[in-house]
Amino acid sequence: MCPGSFDPVTNGHVDVVRRASGLFDEVVVAVLTNPAKRPLFTLAERLEMIGESLAGIGGVTVTAVESGRLLVDFCREVGAGAVVKGLRSGTDFAYELPMALMNRHLTGLETVFLPGEPVFEHVSSSLVKEVASHGGDVSGLVPDLVLARLLERVRPVGDTKGHQSGA
Ligand code: PNS
Repeated sequence: MCPGSFDPVTNGHVDVVRRASGLFDEVVVAVLTNPAKRPLFTLAERLEMIGESLAGIGGVTVTAVESGRLLVDFCREVGAGAVVKGLRSGTDFAYELPMALMNRHLTGLETVFLPGEPVFEHVSSSLVKEVASHGGDVSGLVPDLVLARLLERVRPVGDTKGHQSGA
């Protein structure tokens, strides 16, 4: 199980899912709503973008998890034996470790941490959105189909006639 809010999916996410698919016969990518974050894209949009971005990777399915559900309950329902999370840095580990321990506390569900490709170490959904909204170039950091949707959604600061502003 590769869970996340994927707002939007980045090439770092794609790298981790590709690595997970090399380790496990089946990988379920679960798109959730993180109540601590205000998403730029709707759940349906995030689901569509990540589905298209992962289409070439075998054994991968993408699904949405309704808000209010615990990840461990969803994992139990679909028979997922482990959560897979990518790590870019020690900061990621500090963020992920309490969730991994809590999930194990709740149902015994284990988490497997995979080091991501270092070339994506600086790539996060939040930074990509911030840079794009200020007119910076984020090509190569997200799949091309995501780049197009992102540029439609954000409006660079100071650009009054450029891209459409989102929610
Ligand atoms: O990409 P994110 O936002 O860091 O992903 C965090 C996410 C959505 C995987 C996490 O918030 C989560 O698992 N939410 C589902 C509700 C849940 O189970 N919360 C307890 C986690 S220990």
